[in-house]
Amino acid sequence: MKSNSDLKSLIDTLKFLSDIGEVDVLEAEPVKRNKAVLVEAANSINTSESNDIKLLEKVSKTEARRKAEELAYNARTLEELYKALLSFEGCSLKSTAIHTVFSDGVSSSKIMFVGEAPGAEEDKLGKPFVGQSGQLLDKFLEWAGFSRSKNIYISNTIPWRPPGNRQPTSEETYICRPFLERHIELIRPKFLVMLGGTALKTFHNPKEGIVTLRGNWMPYTTENEGVSVETMPIFHPAFLLRSPGQKKLFWRDLLQIRLKAEAELGDV
Ligand code: URA
Repeated sequence: MKSNSDLKSLIDTLKFLSDIGEVDVLEAEPVKRNKAVLVEAANSINTSESNDIKLLEKVSKTEARRKAEELAYNARTLEELYKALLSFEGCSLKSTAIHTVFSDGVSSSKIMFVGEAPGAEEDKLGKPFVGQSGQLLDKFLEWAGFSRSKNIYISNTIPWRPPGNRQPTSEETYICRPFLERHIELIRPKFLVMLGGTALKTFHNPKEGIVTLRGNWMPYTTENEGVSVETMPIFHPAFLLRSPGQKKLFWRDLLQIRLKAEAELGDV
């Protein structure tokens, strides 16, 4: 069987012969017809090549996800989960990041916050939400009676910083998702607060965006062990830095979480 490069050089030769009028090598038909045949053949090669690439990408995405599930779902402790992440090579974000940013806070807490992905400061220090938006978040948490040293746990949908702080792609989120699922299963929070639209889309398949859905409780069940949690999307603190006028709504949502936590957990 001829390879694609063999076929390409054959087609190039035929195109050349066709262009200089030596069409007899093909058949004693007008040049026009031969050109059409050649163009069609060339197009079919391009299409099959790009189909091959798409198929390869799909296979590697599926394989990366399968590996993530195997590593994550076998982790029995947070330490094992962290080690599993360190050994995972299926997400290209890892190769450009300095640290694998795992979590911060009290692991026995019943309230878990999930952000998007580490930024530059988080990547440098290996800790989530330590940059400008993290500092703003900490202030609000404190006003609402929450703190990472006392009663909340915090992590991200993706543990590696996307270059230039871009949003993680849906493929990156899909591949890394089993680690987050397992993280929730090991923490077993009662309430899960999704910070921003990326976290919201990771858990739910919403028809509306964060602006409409923020402040609403939504049930969620993990994919692996079927652990049920009550989730609420709220604005991402980075959004509040850009739109300070939205802090009022953020505060209202945090208070709602605080009240529900007190009512259902007692002493938070
Ligand atoms: N933004 C996030 O979503 N997570 C972090 O850890 C830092 C900034």
